[in-house]
Amino acid sequence: MTILITNIKELVQVRDVPVRKVSGADMGILPTIKNAFLFIKNDVIEAYGKQDEMPNITADKVIDASGKIILPTWCDSHTHIVFAGNREQEFVDRIKGMSYEEIAKKGGGILNSAKKLQQTPENELYSQSAKRVEEVMRLGTGAIEIKSGYGLTKEAELKMLRVIKKLNENYPVTIKATFLGAHALPHDFKDNKSGYLDFVIHEILPTVAKEKLASFIDIFCETGYFSVADTEKLLASGTAYGLVPKIHVNQFTAIGGVQMGVKYKALSVDHLEEMRAEDIEALQNTGTMPVALPSCSFFLNIPYTPARKMIDSGLPLALATDYNPGSTPSGNMNFVVATACIKMRMTPEEAINAATINGAYAMGLEKTHGSISKGKKASFIITKEIPSYGFIPYSFGNHCIDKVFIDGHEI
Ligand code: NIG
Ligand code: FE
Repeated sequence: MTILITNIKELVQVRDVPVRKVSGADMGILPTIKNAFLFIKNDVIEAYGKQDEMPNITADKVIDASGKIILPTWCDSHTHIVFAGNREQEFVDRIKGMSYEEIAKKGGGILNSAKKLQQTPENELYSQSAKRVEEVMRLGTGAIEIKSGYGLTKEAELKMLRVIKKLNENYPVTIKATFLGAHALPHDFKDNKSGYLDFVIHEILPTVAKEKLASFIDIFCETGYFSVADTEKLLASGTAYGLVPKIHVNQFTAIGGVQMGVKYKALSVDHLEEMRAEDIEALQNTGTMPVALPSCSFFLNIPYTPARKMIDSGLPLALATDYNPGSTPSGNMNFVVATACIKMRMTPEEAINAATINGAYAMGLEKTHGSISKGKKASFIITKEIPSYGFIPYSFGNHCIDKVFIDGHEI
């Protein structure tokens, strides 16, 4: 199947020479072609260029994109979208004054979701999660990372990871799985954190690795959850099994988790609402991608990741949703991009780079996703008729999407 798209007002994030990620001042550069064509063959980008230089091409289908912009689909490198039920009662509790930490201490939070998930049969968990996958695909997400971490028993963690695997098999969106067994302490190990960590490392991790159920390993490194020493222990074991670290750090407190992530060559360190100068410094000239989750800051009313400071010091930055039932019940990357511009003072160029190529890097998918480049996946958004790509974040709370193509399939 070949598709030719003509008269594109602007083709955005065009990389003739593919880059792995963009950092610092380069994040402000977003290469585009005005008045362009795009030609795809099956699931791959075959050719693109200026409309008036288009060679003679015959295609099975031709789409006229006059007045419309095309950009690569969003790469959402941090989500927890496999979950059971919701937590809108905690939302109301927070409105009435309780904090996220207080709710967690009273057995709400992650443990509340874990209880629901443990009781939900696998097929039911699959169908609840599949609805969310379909929803985010329609919102322009073409590659996504999904974590376990609401199981907290061997059986339930493996159930989550099998659901993620099945979603990847059944939908065109590319899905990467992360094992987040060390997300919170389950009731049974209430006073035995090291016992739980040993259980994760010796009882669950070997099966996850053997059955190839995850590419990445994650831990919630945070005061009241898992310490920096716990993080080191888990990452050492995870990497020994071939899993690559991607960790939750500096959400509420900065305790040295960023440095530990860098030490274990984490592909990304995520959240980073609390960043000290030494944390920014630790990330300089490393392969570790910092990931900001502005919808989480918005929903929990906590500080935003200091994107300006980080980018101005030369760091790269990726943007992701954190879609989960507790801190971010939204998987809308369009809102993430807008919020990054509005609240974190990122320019539209920086935010689009952060949500495409840098997001792809944070999932190890930069060779196939994140830019319009020959041979990359035919995964892109065709906008409605809009004046410029800056209109995408400007029209916050809305989305500008007309059509979404993922791996060559129209969604
Ligand atoms: O990334 N911070 C840890 N984990 C999730 C929230 C989990 C929950 O509240 O259910 C996050 O924000
Ligand atoms: Fe998260």
